[in-house]
Amino acid sequence: MLKVENLKVEVDGKLILKGVDLELSPGKVVALMGPNGSGKTTLMMTIMGFPRYKVVEGRIIFKDTDITNLPVYERVNLGIGLAFQRSQSIDGVALRTFLKKIAEKRGVEVDIDGIANEFNMGDFLDRFVNKGFSGGEQKRCEFLQLLVLNPDLLLLDEPESGVDLDNIKLIGKAINKILKREVTPQTEGTDSERCVDKWKLKSALIVTHTGYILDYVKADEGYVLIDGRIVCKGNPYEILKIVEKYGYRRCERCV
Ligand SMILES: Nc1ncnc2c1ncn2[C@@H]1O[C@H](COP(=O)(O)OP(=O)(O)OP(=O)(O)O)[C@@H](O)[C@H]1O
Ligand SMILES: [Mg+2]
Repeated sequence: MLKVENLKVEVDGKLILKGVDLELSPGKVVALMGPNGSGKTTLMMTIMGFPRYKVVEGRIIFKDTDITNLPVYERVNLGIGLAFQRSQSIDGVALRTFLKKIAEKRGVEVDIDGIANEFNMGDFLDRFVNKGFSGGEQKRCEFLQLLVLNPDLLLLDEPESGVDLDNIKLIGKAINKILKREVTPQTEGTDSERCVDKWKLKSALIVTHTGYILDYVKADEGYVLIDGRIVCKGNPYEILKIVEKYGYRRCERCV
């Protein structure tokens, strides 16, 4: 689904990612961990294609297509969606209008009120996007947009940060709903046996510090990013336990 090869990225002339390799198979969920400032958001924003993040070396492959130089909207059309760590507010644009536009662009009919109510966002539809929303409300708003966008690859930058426990559960439910996880990847058999078209299996790359979201969305693999480099890859739940006990210092040498 996604292959990041030797990715080196500069932001405003400073090298932040120093050769990142990462792979995500169709149907899989990967957790990305790492200390503050290690480059996690930089990686997400670069995969999404924001021009401020300049790729100086390496490639990003999505579904066998090299997307390294594609603009953001083309990546969205191909099926990539991002939930920001820090959302932007859009003054003057009602959330309902925004969601309708997303659905229109995707060419799908969506019951906006129904989805919004299911995800505890019904009262926000006629307010401006994120304007005056609390931190947790902004996060839910990100997921409401993703539910309408329905991407094949979800890039989730700290989906649970600032969210209360009840709403983390709700966000987990939203992620699983988009991933259609109850029907595809957890079942027996190989990818090709389960699904004729492997690209129909959705994937997610989730940045998390606490791992709370991984109580609701089962992650298949974990990566640790330190100072712009992947230093460890393995069972995400084991990695979290080690980090909790010893801190990221322990991950500088992969155990
Ligand atoms: N314009 C800039 N000039 C210099 N350094 C920058 C610039 N923009 C970002 N950085 C640095 O890039 C590094 C990586 O930032 P990034 O937001 O990717 O970290 P992160 O891993 O997401 O951290 P966090 O866990 O705090 O969200 C940080 O040290 C940040 O200060
Ligand atoms: Mg970040």
